[in-house]
Amino acid sequence: MRIAIGCDHGGFQLKESVKKHLKLNEFEVIDFGTNSRESVHFPNYALKVGISVKQGESELGVLCCGTGIGMSIAANKIKGIRASVVNDCFSAKATKEHNGSNVLCLGERVLGEGLALSIVDTWIKAEFQGGRHEERLNQVKNLEENYARGK
Ligand code: RB5
Repeated sequence: MRIAIGCDHGGFQLKESVKKHLKLNEFEVIDFGTNSRESVHFPNYALKVGISVKQGESELGVLCCGTGIGMSIAANKIKGIRASVVNDCFSAKATKEHNGSNVLCLGERVLGEGLALSIVDTWIKAEFQGGRHEERLNQVKNLEENYARGK
């Protein structure tokens, strides 16, 4: 499975840890940066990872910033992206199973590395359950179709 990753300066160290962890577990990783603690603007990286997932270049995406929140707000502006800020393993599983989450957003200033990597593993392993969740997801897609602008 190919996974796109990206971060801003606030999530740089966590992005590096996620990358190492994913590679050790034999995932293919596309790293869209940033690659240092030098200050950058998170929406640029949310866009790169979101587009990679939207276009099918990557199956999933992981974005890291200080809180995960800015990244999720930005990534969720991209049609077809369902980005989830997650701070615990229960939510990691639920957002994939119920919401069909395709981008995981993590906060380096919120999470320890151990928990963050467990969240990544749990989220990747969980699968969308369909059924009643499919109908709700279609309603979300309908909102996107009718109330959001852009391509
Ligand atoms: C950067 O200081 C910080 O605002 C950013 O990493 C992120 O937490 C935004 O949501």
